[in-house]
Amino acid sequence: MNAHIKPTINLLQGDCLELLKTIPDNSIDLILTDPPYYQVLKKEAWDNQWETLEEFLDWIEIVGIELKRVLKTNGAMLMFAHSRWAAYVQIRMDKHFYYLNHLVWRKTNSLPASRPRAYNFFALNTERCLFYRHPEAVSINEELKKQRDTYPRLRKYFADLKKAIGKDNKDIAIAIGTTGATHAFQLKGMQWYLPTRETYEKLLSLGRSPAFEPRAYEDLKREFDKETKREIRRLKLPPNRHFEFQPGFMEVIDCGVNSTNRKHPAQKPLPLLQGLIRSACPPGGLTLDPFAGSASTGVAAIKEGRRFIGFEKDDHYFKVAQTRLELAAAAQKG
Ligand SMILES: C[S@@+](CC[C@H](N)C(=O)[O-])C[C@H]1O[C@@H](n2cnc3c(N)ncnc32)[C@H](O)[C@@H]1O
Repeated sequence: MNAHIKPTINLLQGDCLELLKTIPDNSIDLILTDPPYYQVLKKEAWDNQWETLEEFLDWIEIVGIELKRVLKTNGAMLMFAHSRWAAYVQIRMDKHFYYLNHLVWRKTNSLPASRPRAYNFFALNTERCLFYRHPEAVSINEELKKQRDTYPRLRKYFADLKKAIGKDNKDIAIAIGTTGATHAFQLKGMQWYLPTRETYEKLLSLGRSPAFEPRAYEDLKREFDKETKREIRRLKLPPNRHFEFQPGFMEVIDCGVNSTNRKHPAQKPLPLLQGLIRSACPPGGLTLDPFAGSASTGVAAIKEGRRFIGFEKDDHYFKVAQTRLELAAAAQKG
């Protein structure tokens, strides 16, 4: 182990499987990493450590098991993979994480796109990144649906509406063409939720006793949102933190590759990593990259005000990473 750059930015040299043992359980907000691809970069020793694909996959799965241990239960993992092997890597990671997306980074200025004739197959102009959350993440919606005593006023309102309509759940479902309101009619029970506006409007269009005074949907929704916040506090539910939408960051992300001043053959562009970090790591949260390379993830984390832990085995790339992180930290201080 070598260097501490500053308390919130740590870069350690060594094998990630050894170094991961030093990280406590349930302590990382985001794992953003770009592991070896398996025999894609022929000149790089780190990409040619395994005889067979199976050996590589067994190894990456062992790394995945450790990564799951250190990830917070409301954390996320973004793992790059080469398009040739991404499906195989996904099968191994799916065993340990909850799959969310297969992201495609479309390289807007890639060399193959401008020289497509050099290939005897469709030119490669994308890289892939698998997005996961922890499999034991607590979903706020699921937790709320387990409760029997939530939203008392709203439950009573919908029970009264059902009484005013004067039909049972089955007949109401037939009349409005959906079972979507059934869950709103329970006075005491689990799985209660507010129907959609469309379903509510259909309910109001059914005949009902004139004594019932209907409320506007906006009014019900406002009460529902307020009550939800109160319930989250009452039940002490951890915030769902693994994702926050960022403009321009959807399943396919357009971003140019670094065409000049590259320090690593697999260096990822900072705007891409910064957007991924903003999407999946809370401000001030801790990002881990066990395959740091030139520490692009670390530099992106510094720029986005997140903390960083990185590991890199190779001597040369470790030094490159150290220098980049020091420069980025100094630039950030201003
Ligand atoms: C695909 S590259 C990462 C490049 C990085 N995304 C960047 O922008 O510079 C993978 C890196 O993992 C490192 N590596 C390979 N096996 C490792 C291991 N067992 N522990 C730690 N680092 C390892 C390699 O030396 C290589 O620099």
